[in-house]
Amino acid sequence: MTKLLPRAKVRADLHRLLMRFGIDTRKKRLDRVVLEQVIFPELQRDTRMHSILFVGCAWYTLHYPWVFRDKDFRTMEIDPDAACFGADKHLVGSCESLGTLLSRGELDCVILNGVFGFGLNTPDGLNRTLQGIHHALRAGGLLIFGWNDLPAHAPFPPFSVEGWHCFEPYRFPPLKGESHASDLINRHSFHFFLNRPSSIGK
Ligand SMILES: C[S@@+](CC[C@H](N)C(=O)[O-])C[C@H]1O[C@@H](n2cnc3c(N)ncnc32)[C@H](O)[C@@H]1O
Repeated sequence: MTKLLPRAKVRADLHRLLMRFGIDTRKKRLDRVVLEQVIFPELQRDTRMHSILFVGCAWYTLHYPWVFRDKDFRTMEIDPDAACFGADKHLVGSCESLGTLLSRGELDCVILNGVFGFGLNTPDGLNRTLQGIHHALRAGGLLIFGWNDLPAHAPFPPFSVEGWHCFEPYRFPPLKGESHASDLINRHSFHFFLNRPSSIGK
């Protein structure tokens, strides 16, 4: 893992500063707009969604802990150098180890966006991640999975692994569907699932 380059640090510091004044200079793709302007407000509004884990942190997500300041918002990132973009409650490590790092049912929601195909690249790794999320989410908890259906970021069909049996598709009210393709250029889509009770998922 590489340390943050000075240029990346300046960009991150600038973003952190400007966001305090409500100035957002990021160039956002449609999927990010949907994430931040449709999905996040629904999670903020929903009182059942209190403990939220966001996997994968970067400079452009560093203000998310502030967005969810009224929630128990946690982050996880495999790159130790990106911990500076995470929440106070931040886990350094791979989402493949979630099953051993968190207690059973302690989360209400997991956001796994842009991690599949960006490091989480093997069927075994995705399966372990899904099993860990199944363990850490309460029954009925929400998993939001976002991925890019591009050769460079879809090393295998993500829904081909058996770990998905622990989850059932969920019609996410604001998007009126179980999935949402938000950006035709980078072929990004979000998929929504509820965690099945453990005895059914196993
Ligand atoms: C494309 S960025 C997406 C960041 C963020 N999740 C978002 O929605 O914008 C992918 C991030 O996932 C991290 N990542 C890749 N594999 C991971 C893994 N197995 N566990 C945790 N983080 C991982 C990478 O280090 C990188 O910071």
